[in-house]
Amino acid sequence: MYVEPSWNSLVERLKSKDAKRIYVVGVPDSGKSTLARFLSETFAVLKPTAFIDSDPGQSTLSLPTTISAGFYSTGSKEPQVILSRFIGDTSPQHKQAVILLALHRLTDKMQEKGADCMIFDSSGYVSGQDALEYQLSVIEMLQVDVVILLQRNDELQRLGALLEKFGTITIEEIPVSQAVRPLSMPMRKEKRESKYRAYFENQEIRVLDVQNLALCGSLPERFTVQSMRGRLLAFCDRERFVIAMGIARSFYESDKICICQAPDFDLNQTAFLHFGDIFINTDFKEEHISKRQLQKESRN
Ligand SMILES: Nc1ncnc2c1ncn2[C@@H]1O[C@H](COP(=O)(O)OP(=O)(O)OP(=O)(O)O)[C@@H](O)[C@H]1O
Ligand SMILES: [Mg+2]
Repeated sequence: MYVEPSWNSLVERLKSKDAKRIYVVGVPDSGKSTLARFLSETFAVLKPTAFIDSDPGQSTLSLPTTISAGFYSTGSKEPQVILSRFIGDTSPQHKQAVILLALHRLTDKMQEKGADCMIFDSSGYVSGQDALEYQLSVIEMLQVDVVILLQRNDELQRLGALLEKFGTITIEEIPVSQAVRPLSMPMRKEKRESKYRAYFENQEIRVLDVQNLALCGSLPERFTVQSMRGRLLAFCDRERFVIAMGIARSFYESDKICICQAPDFDLNQTAFLHFGDIFINTDFKEEHISKRQLQKESRN
């Protein structure tokens, strides 16, 4: 990681104002995750720090389709605890309420653990009015005290102008590093697929009795082979934090049997079975199948 001179002066300003909640925002490929990691590691030297990754696409702490928080106790180089919430999609666009709730729950948990400083990484979903409203809602809900706008030119000017009106948020404009290496859409997809592969490749196909679990998320209208095979699932505890992820093979609704590829986990600790919107095939390739297409297939 190349540490830009502007980052060091940024750290000094953040320290002197004792910033507690710092949100990093920028277009895709602006170096958000790298700067957020640098800040987390820098602050973790001094005090208990949380790194909260709110990007369900290019997640850095856990699998794509989740958002996560990592807790660093003072002096630690790696997060000791990682908590994840399942979003079920790789884009925040259609999951805004789910993400807002997840961020709220994750920040509460990090606060409980004693995090004195929280650094939020964000997705590159910033263009257009819907995205602007989304960013505004997240930043307001989190009660952020510093927003770092990572910009090449003035692409975040509208967001900055909106945030200024709160009167309570310090806005830091930081130029995008020359060291950023952009990723094409196919490369992004491949990166996600390598994460699915690493997690699932050596996991067994399990036959799970899920009659004691509550089903939530994107349940299909009908449980057919087409609507279930490959569907990404999350097994979650009573607080809806992820215990394990699974790839469905089939689901027998009447018997409440779920056949899926998943790591070994404690089903007794599991309260929710959360259905995702993404499908992963046997080569760990990601498929986004629209509901309409599923309905058409199930009629055939
Ligand atoms: N300061 C830096 N020094 C070295 N490499 C960097 C630096 N900043 C970014 N990169 C590299 O550029 C690429 C993109 O950076 P990064 O993932 O931080 O951007 P991002 O804005 O978070 O992207 P995304 O929109 O996909 O979330 C990564 O491969 C990262 O390692
Ligand atoms: Mg990123």
